Amino acid sequence: MPTDDSAHNPLDDIDKVLVDEASIKKRLKELGDEINRAYSGREIAVIAIINGAIIFVADLIRELRIPLQLDCVRVQSYLDDTKPVQTPEIIDKIRLELKGLDVLIIDDILDSGNTLARVTEIFEAMEPASLKTCVLLDKKTTRRVAFEADFVGFHIPDEFVVGYGLDFAERYRQLPCIGVLRPELQNPPEWA
Ligand code: IMP
Ligand code: MG
Repeated sequence: MPTDDSAHNPLDDIDKVLVDEASIKKRLKELGDEINRAYSGREIAVIAIINGAIIFVADLIRELRIPLQLDCVRVQSYLDDTKPVQTPEIIDKIRLELKGLDVLIIDDILDSGNTLARVTEIFEAMEPASLKTCVLLDKKTTRRVAFEADFVGFHIPDEFVVGYGLDFAERYRQLPCIGVLRPELQNPPEWA
């Protein structure tokens, strides 16, 4: 196979690893146990907020020993690069009928709280039997609306992180760890 000298490993763009691969694996087992206990004897509907939650959800549900149904939603928070939408909206339809189900919404990170506050409001209207939320990461200091998740993987400081599903301009989702980009890469002119 020809090698491409210009290609570089995205892992090299990480300045600082906040959560390494082994810690993620270990914590996911604990989180899986917490969820197994919380829903013991019941079936749940897992709703993944994509794209950010795909890797987390894929690994977490394999730690679950309870029956579950899986669906995904996309949430749009920005009309374009410059105009933030005040209220995030679900931009595709959920296929599961949530009425009467025990619903667990899973997202990658809880930051301002806007996304999960809005998504839970939309799903509450569908009259689930119960509704809980789970996030891999929680940046507690950046909340703009009061919202706490029921299950949290890690609490992290207010830094922009990538990896394990989290992106910067759709890149870096594949990294096995969670880290902070080198400062000069956080706002490269060509992505501005
Ligand atoms: P919230 O609505 O402000 O709570 O933000 C949740 C969404 O913002 C997440 O699902 C992410 O897509 C994005 N987000 C917030 N902080 C970060 C970060 O540090 N890295 C990558 N994405 C982030
Ligand atoms: Mg994102």
